[in-house]
Amino acid sequence: MSDRIEPQPRIMEIKLYKGGASKIDGINDVVKLSSNENPYGPGEGAREAYLRAGHDLHRYPPTDHSGLRQALAQEYALDPDRIICGVGSDEILTLLAQAFAGPGDEVIYTEHGFTLYPIIANIVGATPVKVQEHERVVDVDAILAACNDKTRLVYVANPNNPTGTMIGANEVARLADSLPPQAILVLDGAYAEYVEGYDGGAALVEARQNVVMTRTLSKIYGLGGLRIGWGYGPAAIVDVLNRVRQPFNLSNTQLMVAEAAVKDTAHVIKSRENNTRLRAWLAEALAEHGVPSDTSCANFILARFGSEDEAAACDAYLKSQGLIVRLVSDYGLGRCLRITVGDESACRRVAHAIGQFKGGAR
Ligand SMILES: Cc1ncc(COP(=O)(O)O)c(C=O)c1O
Repeated sequence: MSDRIEPQPRIMEIKLYKGGASKIDGINDVVKLSSNENPYGPGEGAREAYLRAGHDLHRYPPTDHSGLRQALAQEYALDPDRIICGVGSDEILTLLAQAFAGPGDEVIYTEHGFTLYPIIANIVGATPVKVQEHERVVDVDAILAACNDKTRLVYVANPNNPTGTMIGANEVARLADSLPPQAILVLDGAYAEYVEGYDGGAALVEARQNVVMTRTLSKIYGLGGLRIGWGYGPAAIVDVLNRVRQPFNLSNTQLMVAEAAVKDTAHVIKSRENNTRLRAWLAEALAEHGVPSDTSCANFILARFGSEDEAAACDAYLKSQGLIVRLVSDYGLGRCLRITVGDESACRRVAHAIGQFKGGAR
């Protein structure tokens, strides 16, 4: 690049997002527990829709996503006109920043929050502001103390990744009520379906003008590879986002499969039940091996080791056994490994290997 050609301010501050690894050199029988994917994949309906979707590849998709929005509205009892669909919830999170923040503005995220939030702030030239958590839990008072007249967006994942912790509805409402008037609270509900009876913040969106909820089909719906997410917000905010969004952002295939997946409630229930059961089993098995974790509300466990060196050594040992988990030093959690709750055999394998590691095998 010639030295007269320059990227926009803050672009070079961006640290490239690292996805979870999926291969280990020299090992074929690999179990991937590094990206919080649903170990059972998508449900039958979604698989069939995917096979059907190949027929009309020459046709442009609809721009209004009305079929998918209707299905989501029906499933989650929401107003379809206030739903926006995107290429993963990443796109909705990004559209919010593109539309509402820019140079001179501030975007708040929390200490161990999803690493995409500061990336998004930098993309649009806004200043990312990191706020301390309290013992790996979002601290509403600390967020409020960091707010000022430049704050435009506050990103909170609830449950949070990679901590797995969440804050209660009263705390979220207090946060929404106390934000400065120009700020939007973005409630990232990527893991909401793993919490029985939790609406991801939908009721709060209905009751306030300054809250947007984002959701994804990448986690419990088992469709991370297809990239589909959605958001729910006040009509005026959704109108703004739709102006910024690419008209053909979702393909026919994405829309058809997503619609089928959303209607397959049984798959969601089965996935949630398996996750709840195996998550409790795995947390207890690790605790018995001297590896504690906070109670997780999501589909992963944040396992805490005695030191960064021990976490790194355990990660290496697990790799040698064909098990890929996630080092989370990028999230300020160098002592921890994030382990996705896999199927029963994966949970047994990872618990057994950690037991061997703690027992001296290295
Ligand atoms: C907290 C959180 N938000 C959003 C996402 C993005 O999900 P997607 O873009 O696949 O919908 C993830 C993915 O890991 C996540 O952990």
